[in-house]
Amino acid sequence: MMIPHDTIDNILTTTRIEEVIGDYVTLRRRGVNLLGLCPFHNEKTPSFTVSPAKGIYKCFGCGKAGNAVNFLMEHEHFSYPEALKYLAKKYNIEVEEEEQTPEQLQELNEKESLYNLNLFAQQFFTKTLHETEEGKAIGLSYLRERSIREDLIHKFQLGFSPEKWDAFSDYASHQGYKKEFLLKTGLSLEKESRLYDRFHARIIFPIHSVSGRVIGFGGRILGQDKSRPKYVNSPESEIYNKSKTLYGIYFAKTAIIAKDNCFLVEGYTDVISLYQSGIENVVASSGTSLTHDQVRMIQRYTSQITILYDGDTAGIKASFRGIDMIVEQGMNVKIVLFPDGEDPDSFSRKHHPVEVEKFITGNSVNFILFKTKLLLAETQNDPIKKAALIKEIVNTIALIPDGITRSLYIRECSALMTISEMVLMNEMNKILRTRFKKEIPSADQESIPASETFTPTDTQQTLDSDSAEFQEKEIIRLLLLYGHETIHIKKTPDDTEEIQVMVADLVVHEILSDELQFEEPCFKRIFQEYITGNENDSFPDRSWFLSHRDQEVSNMAVNLVFSPYELSQNWLKNNIMVETEEKRLKMHVKHTILSFKSKKIDKMMADLQKQLLSSSSEEEQKELMKSLQKLKKQSIRINNQELGRIITR
Ligand code: GTP
Ligand code: MN
Repeated sequence: MMIPHDTIDNILTTTRIEEVIGDYVTLRRRGVNLLGLCPFHNEKTPSFTVSPAKGIYKCFGCGKAGNAVNFLMEHEHFSYPEALKYLAKKYNIEVEEEEQTPEQLQELNEKESLYNLNLFAQQFFTKTLHETEEGKAIGLSYLRERSIREDLIHKFQLGFSPEKWDAFSDYASHQGYKKEFLLKTGLSLEKESRLYDRFHARIIFPIHSVSGRVIGFGGRILGQDKSRPKYVNSPESEIYNKSKTLYGIYFAKTAIIAKDNCFLVEGYTDVISLYQSGIENVVASSGTSLTHDQVRMIQRYTSQITILYDGDTAGIKASFRGIDMIVEQGMNVKIVLFPDGEDPDSFSRKHHPVEVEKFITGNSVNFILFKTKLLLAETQNDPIKKAALIKEIVNTIALIPDGITRSLYIRECSALMTISEMVLMNEMNKILRTRFKKEIPSADQESIPASETFTPTDTQQTLDSDSAEFQEKEIIRLLLLYGHETIHIKKTPDDTEEIQVMVADLVVHEILSDELQFEEPCFKRIFQEYITGNENDSFPDRSWFLSHRDQEVSNMAVNLVFSPYELSQNWLKNNIMVETEEKRLKMHVKHTILSFKSKKIDKMMADLQKQLLSSSSEEEQKELMKSLQKLKKQSIRINNQELGRIITR
């Protein structure tokens, strides 16, 4: 390990899970927990739960669960030390790392090498722009001509790649960057075993991941040269997946949450110009229509998306299908049409920020109404065209996952098209029914999918409460939730003095003194750590297990801690009144330990009886009978037992 143990502890105790996850997911308070849309699977109803008190998250839809470290490992594909370092940086905790040897450097995995090289390249391009004669004379003056402000040139880390064919490749190679990675990031191309620059003589737009790392580049030619493509982009790589990337998302995410809306534009310069006009919740799809993954990325922060269009209605009509897909994902889509010949960039350069804002708000039209109006204008009272229009619009409305929203649109469109709501509703139900039948062939034909309803599915299978495994689970849950609490108990029922004891201490002693064993391997492993803790007089605490390096253990811990009930409900059902927290806890501890013991002994006796039946040797039968007698006594004792009788210290 490169990070010292104290530092890890410091990081884990400082970390607030809601702040870490809040950087990626919009969370809303729901009781003591926070709730949001799960970033790990596609859902329309939030089932992703974060518990600030326990420091864990769990999705009741897909079952993914863990603490802040697991979240980062899962979401950002960080390694364990990477996740810790990210948190350390977030909370300004100094990590004193050991110097890395050349061998260790070489071991940095490939992804890390690609990130490193991209960072190096971004710094090279930025430096070239600001500090070389060529960069200043050509690059900076171009950006100034487009009136891009200095602070935004810095914020978006814009750069310039020199005219010389291999300026960057040559420099990077001399700095020790390997050809393999120069080619994999696409920064260099190879021709007759010579490297040259993909981006030479271009303005550079670094593309950042959600967490702000440079994953690729876009490069624009200067001026109007029609013989070269206006833009070139990095090819896909292990760290750059175009369909999962949105230009500007790193800079926009906070504003998207704050405004509860995301503006979508086409180009790099549109993002920067709008930002310059004070509109910060803006991202670009880089010229293509949105993919499923990109919509999901936006959906983590908001369910409102406003598409800013330049150009003609023909272009917009061509993108209707793509927008249907966004609607289907449960997003509320609005459209803003810019005046002919203007894109968000040119428009915001010509108008004052206040006017830009006013234009956008004043011209936002809901997509479904926009589509209805646009197509309606084309039917010109031709009944056949109008019938086709109705089908088209109803098809889109039927994609909306939420039933109430669907009926609201039916109402609005019925007014626009002067068609009765009934007719539209019938048409829609027909579509919903056929779609449902297609999805679930055997389903009841009359029922429409109730996609609004949500049934939590726990990943743990439900265990029979009489089983030994269930009892093992309850002991571990008790240890995780209340192991460090102290309770006061009497050593024997006749004692007047009470002694103070830690729950974990009591549990370990009770189980060891009856020589009982865990069977389920994962529970066994966790319990073993408590036994070791007991020997060393310091019990591991909950966060130790929640961030356990053994993924199976940490998953189990999270599942148990996030159990649907807190203290055992059994005696609540039995109407036992318990006055104090401690008494409640004490009863819970007693109940859990005693049922564990009694179920264990029952099972051991049943096993012995089975052996007895199948045994043919008299010797063996005698031995078995003896053990059985012993167990019976133990069982009677346990069933009469007062807790704390066997406490030895
Ligand atoms: P400016 O002309 O500098 O304002 O750029 P823009 O961002 O407005 O470009 P435009 O509206 O023409 O195109 C929108 C987006 O499509 C760009 O940001 C690029 O991501 C992409 N794009 C445009 N032209 C090309 C091209 O020639 N090749 C590739 N690969 N992508 C392009
Ligand atoms: Mn433009």
